[in-house]
Amino acid sequence: MSTGKRFYITTPIYYVNDKPHLGHAYTTLAADVLARFHKARGEDVFFLTGTDEHGAKVAASAEAAGKTPQAFANENSEKFRLAFKTLGIESTDFIRTTEPRHEQAVQAFMAKLREKDVLYEKDYEGLYCTACERFYTEKELVDRHCPIHRRPVERIKERNVFFRLSRYLAEVQKAITSDALQIFPIERKQEALGLIAQGIEDFSVSREKVKWGIPFPGKEGQTMYVWVEALQNYLSALGYPDGAQFKKFWPADVQLMAKDILKFHAIYWPALLMAAGLPLPKTLFIHGFFSIDGEKMSKTTGNVIDPVALVDEFGVDAARYLLLSPFPFGQDGDLKRERFREKYNADLANGLGNLFARVTKMVSQYLGGKVRGTTGDVDSRFQRTKEQTEALDFYGALETTWRIIAEENVAIDRAKPWGLAKDESKKGELAAFLGERIAVLGQLAHVLAPYMPDTAEKILAALSSEGIEKGESLFPRL
Ligand code: MSP
Repeated sequence: MSTGKRFYITTPIYYVNDKPHLGHAYTTLAADVLARFHKARGEDVFFLTGTDEHGAKVAASAEAAGKTPQAFANENSEKFRLAFKTLGIESTDFIRTTEPRHEQAVQAFMAKLREKDVLYEKDYEGLYCTACERFYTEKELVDRHCPIHRRPVERIKERNVFFRLSRYLAEVQKAITSDALQIFPIERKQEALGLIAQGIEDFSVSREKVKWGIPFPGKEGQTMYVWVEALQNYLSALGYPDGAQFKKFWPADVQLMAKDILKFHAIYWPALLMAAGLPLPKTLFIHGFFSIDGEKMSKTTGNVIDPVALVDEFGVDAARYLLLSPFPFGQDGDLKRERFREKYNADLANGLGNLFARVTKMVSQYLGGKVRGTTGDVDSRFQRTKEQTEALDFYGALETTWRIIAEENVAIDRAKPWGLAKDESKKGELAAFLGERIAVLGQLAHVLAPYMPDTAEKILAALSSEGIEKGESLFPRL
């Protein structure tokens, strides 16, 4: 059933200087959950993710690996694609910034900016962090190091093409204040407004010394600044400027990212769109950063978690659950490796898995697999989980759902169907009770489907069969 409603959701595109880690998987998984939720409501969904392949950072990593940037990008981009697939993520498209379709769109966009006379040239000297691919001002540095990577910055002096951000700042501020461009959570909206209030300089859109990039149109020997080009992926994947998908899906409904790249998305991006005469995305949702066992995830600490390894250990749906259930989406959190196993056993093996196994077993054993009255009646407890998913409160939705699971297990312990089964006069009561439990399982499967698609499918398949049999173990105890 189609509602005719369109829904466009994006994730950041990830640098291919290395293989993917759990942080990248986290954002893309969240997008997948929301995309599946909207799809199930009958909306026409476009869900975009992909890889950011140009720039000094990727070029340097390729060189260190003794490969050409393109060969290196091909390898790593494929690892991202595979990791997402392994996590059951089904994006509509996967954009790579080295694709011709991206370069074409970027050229068209830049031509538009040129028409609007918002570009100018000047000499510039600044402090650059290659890991961030951005300039910092002296006062943004911490002990003369990049505040994010804690690495020394590089002094760069070039003649570049600049974008007249100053012309659009007031308008961007107004869009944010009025919620024409919504930024969630509210602290991030305030942070964006704070950045504008402090004053932000015009930024350069070309690079003289970076060779690995899209040639800057009309400026021989310079390439596009990787960030400006990367932001345009959200348009190029839709076939900007004339593509049918572009006309259909732009502006984006939700753009997801973590707080590290807020400034680019909340300020530079809207300004660029305004200059090109395009509508702004409706919502930016900025989630937090997680650490692993209390430490920043980094190669030096050696605590980088490979999303594929997580799936190997726990299975796809369990990995998805373990990522979205520990802390609220939108806040910072800590993932404790030890907790993964505990949570798997407690919530999945003993919680959901046990509920499914015992209900199907009792229906099979006491009722010969037949239940009646299992469709239709909507349990109000489920309304809340749907609202929470829609509001990107994935943590809340899972928490509400697991409360229902616990309540179900308690209700069974109280009603003691095994006792009812021994008493011929209680047959009707037993059938009604188990019928309700089956109905609840069906609804659990529906609200869980965006989070745990395979599990939901297994539950629904078991419930829709002619005679219900004791279901397979969904989550074998570890
Ligand atoms: N290439 C740019 C984005 C361009 S978008 C037009 C970039 N890439 S990145 O590879 O560094 O990815 C950053 C994003 O990865 C974050 O915004 C977030 O979505 C995700 N995360 C990376 N590490 C993370 C955590 N430790 N915790 C949560 N999310 C994390 O920036």
